[in-house]
Amino acid sequence: MVKKNACVFISGNGSNLRSLINHSRNQTFPINISLVVCNKINAKGIFYAKKYSIPYLIINTKKRNFENIVLQKLKRYKISLICLAGYMKIISKNFLKSFGKKIINVHPSLLPKFKGLNTFERVLKDKEKKTGCTIHYVNEKLDNGKNIIQKSFFISKEDNVKFLKKKTQSLEHKAFSEAIIKIYRYT
Ligand code: GRF
Repeated sequence: MVKKNACVFISGNGSNLRSLINHSRNQTFPINISLVVCNKINAKGIFYAKKYSIPYLIINTKKRNFENIVLQKLKRYKISLICLAGYMKIISKNFLKSFGKKIINVHPSLLPKFKGLNTFERVLKDKEKKTGCTIHYVNEKLDNGKNIIQKSFFISKEDNVKFLKKKTQSLEHKAFSEAIIKIYRYT
């Protein structure tokens, strides 16, 4: 099997990046993580790129030409899939168009419910019975592209923001790899 080259965009802890790297070490997993892009110089997740000797790029999104710098790198590494894994910036219309290939994102709610930030707080406030995560394609609107996979669990009385985050993240790690397998199953 010829694996596709993927790039993971992060801003924070990188637990999803770590999980994707682990899966990608399996021969039958459809992608290799060939590049990591990060917009925070102190992001913990960079540690995983270093640990596994994956090339990484730290970007300053305040720079006017930062998108072109990223696009050039993506081309150089022949990237055909971008995984947004806790990347806290909106992907511009121009970037989507110029990259022209698949971009997917992980979101900590059952979309279309609870788009945007502070999902766990809002889930609890609205007394939802269930919550979970969604892996979806990225389009020009926030948390809005077509869903690929969702995973859910029932909320218990004891759940608080911290517990919901923990439970949701462990589902995210499974959902992300399953979504990638699903995307490449018939290609
Ligand atoms: C995840 O919970 C994801 O849903 C959200 O940001 C978080 C990133 O976590 N978009 P990590 O950096 O992968 O640990």
